[in-house]
Amino acid sequence: MEHRITVCTSCRHKGTECRPGYELIERLRQAIAAAGDSVPEDFEISGVACMAGCDRPCTVAYHGTKKATYLFGDIDPNTDVDDLVAFARQYAYLHDGWCTSVDRPGKLRTATLARVPAALMVIEETEARAS
Ligand code: FES
Repeated sequence: MEHRITVCTSCRHKGTECRPGYELIERLRQAIAAAGDSVPEDFEISGVACMAGCDRPCTVAYHGTKKATYLFGDIDPNTDVDDLVAFARQYAYLHDGWCTSVDRPGKLRTATLARVPAALMVIEETEARAS
């Protein structure tokens, strides 16, 4: 099963030219590597230019095969990496990726911009094959 974390590399801290996405990717890679087997799946961590959450920088998405997709906003590389690693651990164990806000760690309880169920993607794949 494939797991991915995608970080926006275009987001800017409000009122500045600083784009913290690259720093966030680096810190997250190091933290996931340091977590070792406590995160029971490999996560591919990469950047993308804009996920349409530009008012809530930085944005970070979690995706997994046949799992719900999440988009989080307001993520700060200086304070939120531990919560992102904790959610990677949780997400790896969730069969369909689905969880409620109260179950998510720390900042991620209030920073969710979208949660898209995997079932919709499966239905779309089925329809695409049928057409
Ligand atoms: S610039 Fe980061 S979501 Fe648009």
